[in-house]
Amino acid sequence: MIKEIYIDNFKCLSNFRMQPDGVQLWLGDNGSGKTSVLDVLRKIHRILNGAHVDDVFDGRSLTGWDQRLEQTAAVKLEIDGELYEYELVIEYTEKKDTYRIKKETLIWREKKFFEFDSHDAHLYRINRDSKIVEEGASFPSDWRCSLLFSIAKRDDNYPLIRFREEVERWLIVQSVPPMIKKEAWFSRPHGAHSVIKPYPTVDGLTPSETMARGWDDE
Ligand SMILES: Nc1ncnc2c1ncn2[C@@H]1O[C@H](COP(=O)(O)OP(=O)(O)OP(=O)(O)O)[C@@H](O)[C@H]1O
Ligand SMILES: [Mg+2]
Repeated sequence: MIKEIYIDNFKCLSNFRMQPDGVQLWLGDNGSGKTSVLDVLRKIHRILNGAHVDDVFDGRSLTGWDQRLEQTAAVKLEIDGELYEYELVIEYTEKKDTYRIKKETLIWREKKFFEFDSHDAHLYRINRDSKIVEEGASFPSDWRCSLLFSIAKRDDNYPLIRFREEVERWLIVQSVPPMIKKEAWFSRPHGAHSVIKPYPTVDGLTPSETMARGWDDE
């Protein structure tokens, strides 16, 4: 379960933190950032599925009034009763129009279990005898994609794998109001004109012409 989401310098979300709990209904004005929160979760999902940071992030998503070129996306997950804290900090280079991962960390049971610090990846492991977390290998790693995606499963690194598998299972769906309106228009019962609002039209088109043309959500 997602216990916390933190987003900084992404569209209208600046130093934004929320603690979802169980089933939630998000209500908010148009443009208040509901979809943007889901967008960021989708981006974390893609990064942990091996996507290149350049293919996932876009410099235009930097918060317009913020001069910083760093964006942060972080989640705290509770998995099998244990807390996993993941943070991804990416940096945009205006000149080259590219992104790189500046920092990526996974904390498990309040202890660092993985870190990428711009250049090197630092792995940790569970000592087979003492069961205590200890430092493992450190090596230069690619800053364009997350190493977490490609780390092989071993019996001393199960927190990494457990976290990755949990995020891989995320299914992020959202409603598309114009599609719902289309359905409502087609499925309205006879004589229900006054109950269901007609499908909205644009530019003086009829409802069916509008539907054929498609409706711009954003
Ligand atoms: N680069 C940017 N800098 C600052 N704000 C931005 C940037 N890009 C987009 N925005 C703003 O971020 C907001 C994104 O809103 P979002 O689509 O997430 O809202 P929403 O709550 O899902 O709205 P709706 O109810 O209409 O679906 C908009 O207000 C948009 O103007
Ligand atoms: Mg939206």
